[in-house]
Amino acid sequence: MESVKTKKIMIVVGARPNFMKAAPIIAGIRDHNERVAGSPSRAGSGHSQIALQCVLVHTGQHYDAAMSDQFFADLRIPKPDVHLGVGGGSHAAQTAEIMKRFEEALEREKPDLLIVVGDVNSTLACALVAAKISYDKSGSRPLIAHVEAGLRSFDRGMPEEINRIVTDHLADLLFVTEESGVKNLRQEGVEDHKIHFVGNTMIDSLLAFKDQARRSPILRALGLSANEGLSESGSSITPFALLTLHRPSNVDEREGFLNILEGLNELASICPIIFPVHPRTRKKIADFGFEDFFFRLEGTEHSTRPSPQEGKGRICLIDPLGYIDFLCLMEHAAVVVTDSGGIQEETTCLGVPCVTVRENTERPVTIEVGTNVLAGTSATGIRKAVRQQLESKREAAVPEAWDGKSAERILGVICDQLLKQEEKLLASVIE
Ligand code: UD1
Repeated sequence: MESVKTKKIMIVVGARPNFMKAAPIIAGIRDHNERVAGSPSRAGSGHSQIALQCVLVHTGQHYDAAMSDQFFADLRIPKPDVHLGVGGGSHAAQTAEIMKRFEEALEREKPDLLIVVGDVNSTLACALVAAKISYDKSGSRPLIAHVEAGLRSFDRGMPEEINRIVTDHLADLLFVTEESGVKNLRQEGVEDHKIHFVGNTMIDSLLAFKDQARRSPILRALGLSANEGLSESGSSITPFALLTLHRPSNVDEREGFLNILEGLNELASICPIIFPVHPRTRKKIADFGFEDFFFRLEGTEHSTRPSPQEGKGRICLIDPLGYIDFLCLMEHAAVVVTDSGGIQEETTCLGVPCVTVRENTERPVTIEVGTNVLAGTSATGIRKAVRQQLESKREAAVPEAWDGKSAERILGVICDQLLKQEEKLLASVIE
Protein backbone atom coordinates (compact mmCIF):
# COMPACT_ATOMS: atom_id res chain seq x y z
CA MET A 1 0.00 0.00 0.00
CA GLU A 2 1.35 3.44 -0.95
CA SER A 3 1.75 6.03 1.80
CA VAL A 4 -0.31 9.22 1.96
CA LYS A 5 1.50 12.24 0.51
CA THR A 6 0.98 15.66 2.05
CA LYS A 7 0.59 18.59 -0.33
CA LYS A 8 0.63 22.19 0.82
CA ILE A 9 -2.15 24.55 -0.26
CA MET A 10 -1.93 28.26 0.47
CA ILE A 11 -5.17 30.28 0.49
CA VAL A 12 -5.13 34.07 0.39
CA VAL A 13 -7.85 36.32 1.79
CA GLY A 14 -7.61 40.08 2.08
CA ALA A 15 -10.87 41.95 1.92
CA ARG A 16 -14.41 41.44 3.17
CA PRO A 17 -15.85 39.76 0.05
CA ASN A 18 -13.07 37.15 0.11
CA PHE A 19 -13.98 35.63 3.45
CA MET A 20 -17.30 33.98 2.50
CA LYS A 21 -15.79 32.68 -0.74
CA ALA A 22 -12.77 31.08 0.95
CA ALA A 23 -14.50 29.69 4.08
CA PRO A 24 -16.12 26.64 2.39
CA ILE A 25 -12.80 25.68 0.77
CA ILE A 26 -10.99 25.86 4.11
CA ALA A 27 -13.74 23.75 5.72
CA GLY A 28 -13.60 21.35 2.75
CA ILE A 29 -9.85 20.83 3.23
CA ARG A 30 -10.45 20.00 6.89
CA ASP A 31 -13.14 17.49 5.93
CA HIS A 32 -10.91 15.96 3.25
CA ASN A 33 -8.09 15.43 5.76
CA GLU A 34 -10.48 13.86 8.25
CA ARG A 35 -11.62 11.43 5.56
CA VAL A 36 -8.02 10.58 4.66
CA ALA A 37 -7.07 10.09 8.32
CA GLY A 38 -10.22 8.08 8.99
CA SER A 39 -9.84 5.63 6.13
CA PRO A 40 -6.25 4.36 6.14
CA SER A 41 -7.47 1.23 4.35
CA ARG A 42 -8.33 3.37 1.34
CA ALA A 43 -4.96 5.12 1.30
CA GLY A 44 -3.27 4.40 -1.98
CA SER A 45 -6.39 4.98 -4.03
CA GLY A 46 -7.53 8.24 -5.67
CA HIS A 47 -7.83 11.42 -3.64
CA SER A 48 -7.19 9.65 -0.36
CA GLN A 49 -3.55 9.35 -1.46
CA ILE A 50 -3.25 13.05 -0.66
CA ALA A 51 -3.50 14.93 2.61
CA LEU A 52 -3.79 18.71 2.26
CA GLN A 53 -1.88 21.05 4.55
CA CYS A 54 -3.67 24.40 4.50
CA VAL A 55 -1.75 27.65 5.05
CA LEU A 56 -4.10 30.60 5.39
CA VAL A 57 -2.72 34.04 4.54
CA HIS A 58 -4.54 37.29 5.41
CA THR A 59 -3.06 40.25 3.59
CA GLY A 60 -4.75 42.73 5.94
CA GLN A 61 -6.24 44.76 3.04
CA HIS A 62 -9.30 45.04 5.29
CA TYR A 63 -8.28 45.41 8.90
CA ASP A 64 -11.17 46.81 11.00
CA ALA A 65 -12.84 44.38 13.39
CA ALA A 66 -16.15 44.96 11.59
CA MET A 67 -14.67 44.44 8.11
CA SER A 68 -12.54 41.41 8.97
CA ASP A 69 -12.44 39.82 12.47
CA GLN A 70 -16.21 39.49 12.73
CA PHE A 71 -16.25 37.51 9.48
CA PHE A 72 -13.62 35.08 10.74
CA ALA A 73 -15.77 34.48 13.83
CA ASP A 74 -19.10 34.21 11.94
CA LEU A 75 -17.78 31.95 9.20
CA ARG A 76 -15.68 29.90 11.64
CA ILE A 77 -12.48 30.52 9.70
CA PRO A 78 -9.38 29.56 11.69
CA LYS A 79 -6.88 32.24 12.65
CA PRO A 80 -4.61 33.03 9.69
CA ASP A 81 -1.22 31.29 9.72
CA VAL A 82 0.36 34.34 8.13
CA HIS A 83 -0.86 37.93 8.53
CA LEU A 84 0.76 40.45 6.22
CA GLY A 85 -0.77 43.51 7.97
CA VAL A 86 -0.84 45.63 4.82
CA GLY A 87 -3.75 48.04 5.47
CA GLY A 88 -5.04 50.76 3.14
CA GLY A 89 -3.33 52.91 0.53
CA SER A 90 -3.62 53.86 -3.13
CA HIS A 91 -4.10 50.95 -5.53
CA ALA A 92 -0.44 50.95 -6.51
CA ALA A 93 0.84 51.32 -2.95
CA GLN A 94 -1.50 48.66 -1.55
CA THR A 95 -0.81 46.19 -4.38
CA ALA A 96 2.96 46.74 -4.17
CA GLU A 97 3.02 46.31 -0.40
CA ILE A 98 1.04 43.06 -0.61
CA MET A 99 3.41 41.78 -3.31
CA LYS A 100 6.53 42.59 -1.29
CA ARG A 101 5.26 40.96 1.88
CA PHE A 102 3.61 38.01 0.12
CA GLU A 103 6.80 37.11 -1.77
CA GLU A 104 8.59 36.51 1.54
CA ALA A 105 5.75 34.30 2.79
CA LEU A 106 5.67 32.32 -0.45
CA GLU A 107 9.43 31.76 -0.43
CA ARG A 108 9.27 30.59 3.15
CA GLU A 109 6.23 28.28 2.80
CA LYS A 110 6.71 27.03 -0.76
CA PRO A 111 3.18 25.70 -1.23
CA ASP A 112 2.36 23.27 -4.06
CA LEU A 113 -0.73 25.26 -4.94
CA LEU A 114 -2.01 28.78 -4.30
CA ILE A 115 -5.71 29.64 -4.17
CA VAL A 116 -6.80 33.23 -4.73
CA VAL A 117 -10.47 34.23 -4.67
CA GLY A 118 -12.54 37.05 -6.15
CA ASP A 119 -11.24 40.26 -7.67
CA VAL A 120 -9.74 42.47 -4.99
CA ASN A 121 -6.22 43.92 -4.98
CA SER A 122 -5.01 41.04 -2.77
CA THR A 123 -6.18 38.53 -5.42
CA LEU A 124 -4.18 40.14 -8.19
CA ALA A 125 -1.09 40.94 -6.09
CA CYS A 126 -0.63 37.38 -4.79
CA ALA A 127 -1.32 35.69 -8.14
CA LEU A 128 1.28 37.92 -9.78
CA VAL A 129 3.94 37.07 -7.19
CA ALA A 130 3.24 33.33 -7.50
CA ALA A 131 3.39 33.44 -11.31
CA LYS A 132 6.91 34.88 -11.24
CA ILE A 133 8.46 33.09 -8.29
CA SER A 134 11.00 30.33 -8.70
CA TYR A 135 11.48 27.95 -5.81
CA ASP A 136 14.63 26.41 -7.28
CA LYS A 137 16.97 26.42 -10.27
CA SER A 138 14.46 24.51 -12.37
CA GLY A 139 12.06 27.45 -11.95
CA SER A 140 9.32 25.51 -10.18
CA ARG A 141 6.44 27.52 -8.73
CA PRO A 142 3.04 26.77 -7.20
CA LEU A 143 0.03 26.02 -9.35
CA ILE A 144 -2.30 29.03 -9.23
CA ALA A 145 -6.03 28.48 -8.79
CA HIS A 146 -8.48 31.37 -9.22
CA VAL A 147 -11.88 30.96 -7.61
CA GLU A 148 -14.60 33.10 -9.29
CA ALA A 149 -12.79 33.29 -12.63
CA GLY A 150 -14.16 34.59 -15.92
CA LEU A 151 -16.56 37.29 -14.69
CA ARG A 152 -16.42 40.41 -16.88
CA SER A 153 -18.18 43.78 -16.65
CA PHE A 154 -16.35 44.93 -19.82
CA ASP A 155 -15.70 48.17 -17.94
CA ARG A 156 -11.98 48.71 -17.49
CA GLY A 157 -12.63 51.80 -15.40
CA MET A 158 -13.45 49.39 -12.60
CA PRO A 159 -10.37 48.33 -10.61
CA GLU A 160 -11.87 44.88 -10.05
CA GLU A 161 -12.16 44.30 -13.83
CA ILE A 162 -8.40 44.81 -14.22
CA ASN A 163 -7.80 42.48 -11.27
CA ARG A 164 -10.06 39.81 -12.78
CA ILE A 165 -8.53 39.90 -16.26
CA VAL A 166 -4.92 39.78 -15.09
CA THR A 167 -5.52 37.10 -12.44
CA ASP A 168 -7.35 34.86 -14.94
CA HIS A 169 -4.46 35.03 -17.38
CA LEU A 170 -1.95 34.10 -14.66
CA ALA A 171 -3.96 31.17 -13.29
CA ASP A 172 -3.48 27.47 -14.10
CA LEU A 173 -6.89 26.43 -12.77
CA LEU A 174 -9.89 28.69 -13.34
CA PHE A 175 -12.96 27.94 -11.24
CA VAL A 176 -16.03 29.56 -12.76
CA THR A 177 -19.34 30.43 -11.07
CA GLU A 178 -21.65 30.98 -14.06
CA GLU A 179 -21.82 30.12 -17.78
CA SER A 180 -20.92 33.65 -18.88
CA GLY A 181 -17.53 33.12 -17.23
CA VAL A 182 -16.77 30.06 -19.37
CA LYS A 183 -17.73 31.98 -22.52
CA ASN A 184 -15.62 35.02 -21.57
CA LEU A 185 -12.54 32.93 -20.85
CA ARG A 186 -12.84 31.01 -24.14
CA GLN A 187 -13.21 34.29 -26.00
CA GLU A 188 -10.00 35.51 -24.40
CA GLY A 189 -8.19 32.39 -25.54
CA VAL A 190 -7.88 30.58 -22.21
CA GLU A 191 -7.41 26.86 -22.91
CA ASP A 192 -10.42 24.66 -22.17
CA HIS A 193 -8.53 22.24 -19.92
CA LYS A 194 -7.89 25.06 -17.42
CA ILE A 195 -11.57 26.06 -17.12
CA HIS A 196 -13.79 24.34 -14.54
CA PHE A 197 -17.44 25.33 -14.09
CA VAL A 198 -18.01 24.53 -10.41
CA GLY A 199 -20.69 26.92 -9.16
CA ASN A 200 -20.34 29.50 -6.45
CA THR A 201 -18.55 29.07 -3.10
CA MET A 202 -20.19 32.26 -1.80
CA ILE A 203 -23.49 30.39 -2.14
CA ASP A 204 -21.96 27.40 -0.29
CA SER A 205 -21.49 29.79 2.66
CA LEU A 206 -24.96 31.24 2.32
CA LEU A 207 -26.60 27.81 2.38
CA ALA A 208 -24.41 26.65 5.28
CA PHE A 209 -25.26 29.66 7.47
CA LYS A 210 -28.82 30.51 6.43
CA ASP A 211 -30.49 28.72 9.33
CA GLN A 212 -28.19 30.33 11.87
CA ALA A 213 -28.86 33.74 10.28
CA ARG A 214 -32.61 33.26 10.80
CA ARG A 215 -31.94 33.18 14.54
CA SER A 216 -29.96 36.44 14.51
CA PRO A 217 -31.24 39.10 16.95
CA ILE A 218 -30.51 41.91 14.47
CA LEU A 219 -34.13 42.56 13.38
CA ARG A 220 -35.15 43.11 16.96
CA ALA A 221 -32.03 45.14 17.74
CA LEU A 222 -32.92 47.51 14.90
CA GLY A 223 -36.56 47.77 15.96
CA LEU A 224 -37.79 45.93 12.87
CA SER A 225 -39.32 42.99 14.73
CA ALA A 226 -40.75 42.39 18.16
CA ASN A 227 -39.43 38.83 18.13
CA GLU A 228 -35.95 37.57 19.00
CA GLY A 229 -35.51 35.52 15.85
CA LEU A 230 -37.95 35.21 12.98
CA SER A 231 -41.57 34.30 13.65
CA GLU A 232 -42.94 31.29 11.74
CA SER A 233 -44.70 33.49 9.19
CA GLY A 234 -42.27 36.38 9.38
CA SER A 235 -45.37 38.59 9.59
CA SER A 236 -44.27 40.61 12.60
CA ILE A 237 -41.42 42.15 10.66
CA THR A 238 -41.73 45.81 9.60
CA PRO A 239 -41.17 45.99 5.83
CA PHE A 240 -37.75 47.54 5.19
CA ALA A 241 -35.18 48.03 2.44
CA LEU A 242 -31.47 47.26 2.76
CA LEU A 243 -28.80 49.46 1.16
CA THR A 244 -25.07 49.06 0.55
CA LEU A 245 -22.91 51.53 -1.40
CA HIS A 246 -19.15 51.67 -1.55
CA ARG A 247 -17.96 51.67 -5.18
CA PRO A 248 -15.56 54.57 -5.75
CA SER A 249 -17.48 55.41 -8.96
CA ASN A 250 -20.66 55.90 -6.87
CA VAL A 251 -19.45 57.58 -3.70
CA ASP A 252 -16.17 59.34 -4.46
CA GLU A 253 -17.71 62.20 -6.51
CA ARG A 254 -20.15 64.57 -4.80
CA GLU A 255 -22.61 64.90 -7.74
CA GLY A 256 -22.82 61.17 -8.40
CA PHE A 257 -23.35 60.30 -4.75
CA LEU A 258 -26.01 63.03 -4.44
CA ASN A 259 -27.91 61.63 -7.47
CA ILE A 260 -28.04 58.22 -5.84
CA LEU A 261 -29.29 59.62 -2.53
CA GLU A 262 -31.98 61.59 -4.36
CA GLY A 263 -32.94 58.43 -6.23
CA LEU A 264 -33.62 56.80 -2.87
CA ASN A 265 -35.84 59.49 -1.30
CA GLU A 266 -39.08 57.99 -2.62
CA LEU A 267 -38.17 54.58 -1.14
CA ALA A 268 -37.19 56.23 2.18
CA SER A 269 -40.67 57.74 2.43
CA ILE A 270 -42.29 54.30 1.96
CA CYS A 271 -40.22 52.20 4.36
CA PRO A 272 -37.07 52.38 6.49
CA ILE A 273 -33.87 51.93 4.49
CA ILE A 274 -31.21 50.21 6.60
CA PHE A 275 -27.71 51.20 5.48
CA PRO A 276 -24.71 49.43 7.06
CA VAL A 277 -22.07 51.88 5.94
CA HIS A 278 -18.66 50.95 4.52
CA PRO A 279 -15.67 52.98 5.89
CA ARG A 280 -15.05 54.57 2.47
CA THR A 281 -18.66 55.78 2.23
CA ARG A 282 -18.77 57.00 5.83
CA LYS A 283 -15.79 59.21 5.11
CA LYS A 284 -17.39 60.60 1.95
CA ILE A 285 -20.67 61.39 3.76
CA ALA A 286 -18.66 63.52 6.19
CA ASP A 287 -16.48 65.10 3.45
CA PHE A 288 -19.53 66.12 1.38
CA GLY A 289 -21.67 67.21 4.36
CA PHE A 290 -24.44 64.75 3.45
CA GLU A 291 -25.41 63.99 7.08
CA ASP A 292 -28.94 65.39 6.61
CA PHE A 293 -29.88 62.48 4.36
CA PHE A 294 -29.23 60.06 7.22
CA PHE A 295 -30.58 59.06 10.58
CA ARG A 296 -28.37 57.18 13.06
CA LEU A 297 -30.15 54.11 14.28
CA GLU A 298 -27.86 52.55 16.83
CA GLY A 299 -25.09 53.00 19.32
CA THR A 300 -27.37 53.54 22.33
CA GLU A 301 -28.88 51.29 24.97
CA HIS A 302 -31.97 49.39 23.86
CA SER A 303 -34.35 51.40 26.06
CA THR A 304 -33.29 54.69 24.48
CA ARG A 305 -32.64 53.45 20.96
CA PRO A 306 -34.63 55.34 18.29
CA SER A 307 -36.98 53.35 16.07
CA PRO A 308 -36.49 53.33 12.28
CA GLN A 309 -39.90 55.05 11.90
CA GLU A 310 -38.54 58.15 13.67
CA GLY A 311 -36.14 58.61 10.78
CA LYS A 312 -38.92 58.49 8.16
CA GLY A 313 -37.78 59.97 4.87
CA ARG A 314 -34.12 59.59 5.77
CA ILE A 315 -31.74 56.63 5.40
CA CYS A 316 -30.99 54.71 8.63
CA LEU A 317 -27.24 54.54 9.04
CA ILE A 318 -25.63 51.71 11.03
CA ASP A 319 -22.08 50.38 11.39
CA PRO A 320 -20.96 47.59 9.03
CA LEU A 321 -22.48 44.27 10.04
CA GLY A 322 -21.01 40.80 10.39
CA TYR A 323 -21.91 37.99 8.00
CA ILE A 324 -24.74 36.38 9.99
CA ASP A 325 -26.57 39.61 10.82
CA PHE A 326 -26.26 40.89 7.27
CA LEU A 327 -27.55 37.62 5.85
CA CYS A 328 -30.56 37.87 8.17
CA LEU A 329 -31.36 41.40 6.99
CA MET A 330 -30.90 40.43 3.37
CA GLU A 331 -33.30 37.52 3.59
CA HIS A 332 -36.04 39.61 5.18
CA ALA A 333 -35.67 42.82 3.15
CA ALA A 334 -38.50 43.87 0.82
CA VAL A 335 -35.83 45.05 -1.60
CA VAL A 336 -32.02 45.31 -1.52
CA VAL A 337 -30.32 48.27 -3.22
CA THR A 338 -26.60 47.77 -3.76
CA ASP A 339 -23.49 48.38 -5.84
CA SER A 340 -21.78 45.23 -4.54
CA GLY A 341 -21.01 42.27 -6.78
CA GLY A 342 -21.63 39.46 -4.31
CA ILE A 343 -24.92 40.81 -2.99
CA GLN A 344 -26.43 40.50 -6.50
CA GLU A 345 -25.69 36.77 -6.24
CA GLU A 346 -26.82 36.31 -2.64
CA THR A 347 -30.19 38.04 -3.25
CA THR A 348 -30.66 35.88 -6.35
CA CYS A 349 -30.19 32.76 -4.27
CA LEU A 350 -32.53 34.08 -1.56
CA GLY A 351 -35.19 35.16 -4.09
CA VAL A 352 -35.10 38.74 -2.77
CA PRO A 353 -35.55 41.60 -5.30
CA CYS A 354 -32.27 43.44 -5.89
CA VAL A 355 -31.64 46.84 -7.51
CA THR A 356 -28.05 47.25 -8.63
CA VAL A 357 -26.86 50.85 -8.73
CA ARG A 358 -24.42 50.39 -11.59
CA GLU A 359 -24.40 50.68 -15.37
CA ASN A 360 -23.20 47.10 -15.84
CA THR A 361 -22.74 43.81 -14.05
CA GLU A 362 -20.12 41.09 -14.37
CA ARG A 363 -22.76 38.66 -13.02
CA PRO A 364 -25.37 38.56 -15.84
CA VAL A 365 -26.94 35.33 -14.57
CA THR A 366 -28.41 37.30 -11.65
CA ILE A 367 -30.44 39.30 -14.19
CA GLU A 368 -31.18 36.49 -16.67
CA VAL A 369 -32.54 33.98 -14.15
CA GLY A 370 -32.33 35.76 -10.81
CA THR A 371 -33.93 38.68 -9.00
CA ASN A 372 -31.56 41.45 -10.02
CA VAL A 373 -32.19 44.57 -12.17
CA LEU A 374 -29.65 47.17 -13.27
CA ALA A 375 -30.78 50.69 -12.34
CA GLY A 376 -27.86 52.77 -13.60
CA THR A 377 -26.82 55.63 -11.32
CA SER A 378 -29.29 58.41 -12.15
CA ALA A 379 -31.97 59.41 -9.64
CA THR A 380 -34.77 58.61 -12.12
CA GLY A 381 -33.26 55.25 -13.05
CA ILE A 382 -33.01 54.24 -9.40
CA ARG A 383 -36.59 55.34 -8.59
CA LYS A 384 -37.94 53.45 -11.60
CA ALA A 385 -36.03 50.24 -10.79
CA VAL A 386 -37.09 50.34 -7.13
CA ARG A 387 -40.77 50.77 -8.10
CA GLN A 388 -40.50 47.93 -10.61
CA GLN A 389 -38.92 45.62 -8.02
CA LEU A 390 -41.43 46.46 -5.28
CA GLU A 391 -44.33 45.72 -7.62
CA SER A 392 -43.00 42.71 -9.51
CA LYS A 393 -43.73 39.18 -8.47
CA ARG A 394 -41.26 37.65 -10.90
CA GLU A 395 -40.48 33.97 -10.37
CA ALA A 396 -36.74 33.67 -10.04
CA ALA A 397 -34.56 30.59 -10.27
CA VAL A 398 -31.27 29.67 -8.62
CA PRO A 399 -28.47 29.49 -11.22
CA GLU A 400 -26.96 26.16 -12.23
CA ALA A 401 -24.63 24.53 -9.69
CA TRP A 402 -25.30 27.09 -6.95
CA ASP A 403 -26.10 24.15 -4.73
CA GLY A 404 -23.72 24.31 -1.79
CA LYS A 405 -21.25 21.84 -3.30
CA SER A 406 -18.86 24.14 -5.15
CA ALA A 407 -15.97 23.85 -2.69
CA GLU A 408 -16.25 20.06 -2.91
CA ARG A 409 -15.98 20.23 -6.73
CA ILE A 410 -13.02 22.61 -6.50
CA LEU A 411 -11.15 20.32 -4.11
CA GLY A 412 -11.88 17.35 -6.39
CA VAL A 413 -10.18 19.13 -9.31
CA ILE A 414 -7.31 20.28 -7.09
CA CYS A 415 -6.65 16.75 -5.79
CA ASP A 416 -6.61 15.45 -9.39
CA GLN A 417 -4.05 18.11 -10.33
CA LEU A 418 -1.86 17.46 -7.31
CA LEU A 419 -1.94 13.71 -8.03
CA LYS A 420 -0.85 14.37 -11.62
CA GLN A 421 1.93 16.63 -10.34
CA GLU A 422 3.08 13.87 -7.98
CA GLU A 423 3.06 11.26 -10.78
CA LYS A 424 5.12 13.56 -13.01
CA LEU A 425 7.61 14.07 -10.20
CA LEU A 426 7.93 10.32 -9.65
CA ALA A 427 8.38 9.69 -13.36
CA SER A 428 11.17 12.27 -13.56
CA VAL A 429 12.98 10.67 -10.59
CA ILE A 430 12.73 7.20 -12.19
CA GLU A 431 14.13 8.57 -15.48
C1 UD1 B 1 -12.42 46.60 -1.67
C2 UD1 B 1 -12.39 45.90 -3.02
C3 UD1 B 1 -13.79 45.80 -3.58
C4 UD1 B 1 -14.74 45.18 -2.58
C5 UD1 B 1 -14.68 45.95 -1.28
C6 UD1 B 1 -15.58 45.37 -0.23
C7 UD1 B 1 -10.34 46.29 -4.37
C8 UD1 B 1 -9.84 46.96 -5.56
N1 UD1 B 1 -11.59 46.66 -3.98
O1 UD1 B 1 -12.83 47.93 -1.91
O2 UD1 B 1 -13.75 44.99 -4.73
O3 UD1 B 1 -16.04 45.19 -3.10
O4 UD1 B 1 -13.33 45.93 -0.82
O5 UD1 B 1 -15.52 46.08 0.94
O6 UD1 B 1 -9.67 45.46 -3.81
N2 UD1 B 1 -10.96 50.83 5.14
C9 UD1 B 1 -11.10 50.92 6.51
N3 UD1 B 1 -11.17 49.74 7.21
C10 UD1 B 1 -11.11 48.52 6.60
C11 UD1 B 1 -11.00 48.47 5.22
C12 UD1 B 1 -10.93 49.64 4.48
O7 UD1 B 1 -11.15 52.00 7.08
O8 UD1 B 1 -11.16 47.50 7.31
C13 UD1 B 1 -10.82 52.07 4.37
C14 UD1 B 1 -9.46 52.08 3.65
O9 UD1 B 1 -8.45 52.56 4.47
C15 UD1 B 1 -9.75 52.97 2.48
C16 UD1 B 1 -11.19 52.62 2.14
O10 UD1 B 1 -11.77 52.07 3.32
O11 UD1 B 1 -9.69 54.33 2.83
C17 UD1 B 1 -11.28 51.65 1.00
O12 UD1 B 1 -10.64 50.40 1.29
P1 UD1 B 1 -9.97 49.51 0.12
O13 UD1 B 1 -9.60 48.16 0.60
O14 UD1 B 1 -8.93 50.31 -0.56
O15 UD1 B 1 -11.08 49.34 -0.95
P2 UD1 B 1 -12.63 49.06 -0.80
O16 UD1 B 1 -13.35 50.27 -1.27
O17 UD1 B 1 -12.97 48.50 0.54
